[in-house]
Amino acid sequence: MKLIVANLKMNQLYEDVLEYKSVIDKKYDNLVICPSYIYLDVLKCDKYHLGSQDGYYMDSGSYTGAVSFKQLKSIGVSYSIVGHSERRVKFNESDEEINKKIISICNNGMTAILCIGETELEKNDNLTYEKLKQNMDIALNGVNIDRVIIAYEPLWAIGSGVIPTIDEIENIHRFIKDYIKGKYNKEILVLYGGSVNYDNCKEISSIASVDGVLIGGASLDPNNLINIVEKIEM
Ligand code: PGA
Repeated sequence: MKLIVANLKMNQLYEDVLEYKSVIDKKYDNLVICPSYIYLDVLKCDKYHLGSQDGYYMDSGSYTGAVSFKQLKSIGVSYSIVGHSERRVKFNESDEEINKKIISICNNGMTAILCIGETELEKNDNLTYEKLKQNMDIALNGVNIDRVIIAYEPLWAIGSGVIPTIDEIENIHRFIKDYIKGKYNKEILVLYGGSVNYDNCKEISSIASVDGVLIGGASLDPNNLINIVEKIEM
C-alpha cells in the first residue's frame, strides 16, 4: 500500500475545511492530510491520519507564535512534514534546525516526513546526489530513523507541472534508500513529491522504489484527492 500525503499549505478558509472534511466519506488508512495548524482539530476523524506542515522543536515555554510537536501530538497529530523547501527558502530553515525538529518529532512518538531535494541550478550542475547527501547527513544526525520517512521533492518540480523522468525518480529513490541502508542498516520509505496529479499519479506511484506521494496543489480539491488515492490503489 502506497502512502499518500496531502500538503494543503496555507490555502483554505474555515468553510473550505468543513466542506473538505464532509467530502471524504470513506476510510483511507494510507492517507495523511496536512492542513494549517488551526484546522487540525477541525479535520480530526478516523478516516485518515492527521499531519502538520511543520512544528517547533521545544516542547513548551516562551516561544510566542510557535506550536510544538508535543502540542500537536496531544491533539492527535501523528505525522509532521519537516524541512519542506518552502520552509527552507521562505523561512530560512537550515538542515541543523530541521534536525532538531526531527528529533522532537521522534521523541514525541510522531513520524517525520523529511523533505529533501535539489534546485534546478544544482540539478544542472550535477549536484543532485551531493545535495541529497548533505540534507540527509545533517538533518538525520543522531536521529532514530525508525520514525522517519523521506520525501524526495526536487524544488524545480514543486508547483511547476514539470516532473523528473521515471528513470530519474527510480534512480534517486534507490540512491536515498541505499544511502540510508549503508549508514543506518535500515530500510526507509521514500515518497515522491512535486507536481503529482491525477494524470501522472499512477505511473509515478508504480515505480518500485516509490513508497508513496506527497501532493500539494492537486490535493486542494478533496474530490480530486480521493480520485488520486483510488487510482493509486487500483
Ligand atoms: P505540488 O506541491 O504538488 O503543488 O507540486 C508539492 C509540495 O510542495 O509538497
